[in-house]
Amino acid sequence: MKSEYLFISLAVLIAAAPVSADPVGDLMDNYRAEGAGPFDADAGRDLWHRDFAGKSCTSCHGSDLTSPGRHARTGKNIAPLAPSANPDRLTDASEIAKWLLRNCKWTLGRECTTQEKGDILSWLRQQ
Ligand code: HEC
Repeated sequence: MKSEYLFISLAVLIAAAPVSADPVGDLMDNYRAEGAGPFDADAGRDLWHRDFAGKSCTSCHGSDLTSPGRHARTGKNIAPLAPSANPDRLTDASEIAKWLLRNCKWTLGRECTTQEKGDILSWLRQQ
């Protein structure tokens, strides 16, 4: 392929998939638009550690978010969740939304509310 064509294809690809500078902020804006907020990082930390019939977010991620976690069911290693220890964390809104949905269902036995998700994200982003 001629290099100009490659360049144009790349430019089109990049334009078609805009990367937000603040994916967590965007998600929190969406939650606010649905009536949630203001968000409270302390409430997020409490929810993170709360025990739901023997399960909690720490079951897989541990309580020190700067260290790797271990999946409670599969035993697989999970890279640290704290953005300070792992710059890849909280960089993609659809990834974050997907995992919040799955992990809330696993841990709480239901989806988290938009308030709970906003609280958790405001705490997580500070870690
Ligand atoms: C059963 C194990 C398990 C539990 C319990 C769990 N998680 Fe996770 N979580 C994972 C796995 C696996 C991933 C995806 C793999 C990865 O990102 O390293 C993940 C990813 C995430 C991500 C995505 C991070 C990113 O950078 O996109 C967030 C946010 C998250 N979890 C939050 C939570 C919260 C909040 C709870 C408690 C409600 C929780 N998790 C409980 C296993 C778990």
